[in-house]
Amino acid sequence: MNNPSHGFVTPDGRRIGGPVLEVRNITLRFGGVVALSNISFDVLEGEIRAIIGPNGAGKSSMLNVINGFYHPQEGEVWYRGAKREPLKPYQIAHQGVARTFQNIALFKGMTTLDNIMSGRLTKMKAGMLSQALWFGKAEAEEVAHREAVEKIIDFLEIQGIRKTPVGRLPYGLQKRVELGRALAADPSLLLLDEPMAGMNVEEKEDMCRFILDVNDEFGTTIALIEHDMGVVMDIADRVVVLDYGRKIGDGPPDEVRRNQDVIDAYLGVSHD
Ligand SMILES: Nc1ncnc2c1ncn2[C@@H]1O[C@H](COP(=O)(O)OP(=O)(O)OP(=O)(O)O)[C@@H](O)[C@H]1O
Ligand SMILES: [Mg+2]
Repeated sequence: MNNPSHGFVTPDGRRIGGPVLEVRNITLRFGGVVALSNISFDVLEGEIRAIIGPNGAGKSSMLNVINGFYHPQEGEVWYRGAKREPLKPYQIAHQGVARTFQNIALFKGMTTLDNIMSGRLTKMKAGMLSQALWFGKAEAEEVAHREAVEKIIDFLEIQGIRKTPVGRLPYGLQKRVELGRALAADPSLLLLDEPMAGMNVEEKEDMCRFILDVNDEFGTTIALIEHDMGVVMDIADRVVVLDYGRKIGDGPPDEVRRNQDVIDAYLGVSHD
């Protein structure tokens, strides 16, 4: 039997482990707005976990709690078996958590290569001063980082745009570059906020393939927000459903799809 809290084997034979991340009873308020109300779920090692729900459900807020942009008024975040104290986003990045944003957050005037290189910053040991004083060491480090970045560029099949300023790229490619920048941090937990929003069918298929390949080849655990239910059903191992800041469903895609509360939320049926 599959036991979600202790891992399971997926229908396609991937081995899912124990919890990497657990959010427990998270409540997040903005003044009178309750963005998240008593939300609990876990993300298991090696899985692709989708977070879905209508507009304003609290999905992005949840990712912002996980990566430290928002600090919830109530609840706990557990990461790799330990309760996490309130940390700054860069400290959480150092723990192996990387993300992309709902609205692309790239340096538009910089090239693809430099944007992806910027994702490497959390891994750079030689700071500005040592780069000035110990040029040899910094140079060796720079070469290693460049190699890592070139591998990502090959992996994402974006060699042709490595020197192009990202502001000139079509939207779908910018999303791919942003994924590259997140991958440059060598994350063990990757958070993607609507990686396929605004894409055409072909671009979505490409992005799906890259997400599956990242998970498969690097063993990266992925939590992603996505509106396209077809995509979610195709790639997610488990799905958590939010609606008006509450959790209304949690389970494998097939189960969630049959959940009446989820169906009602998507049809816009009012709740009492
Ligand atoms: N920084 C903030 N200040 C005030 N209210 C906020 C803030 N961030 C989110 N909210 C509110 O919290 C609620 C949840 O927003 P959130 O962006 O998390 O939803 P979402 O599920 O990501 O929606 P969408 O599908 O539109 O991206 C909304 O009512 C939103 O207005
Ligand atoms: Mg959002």
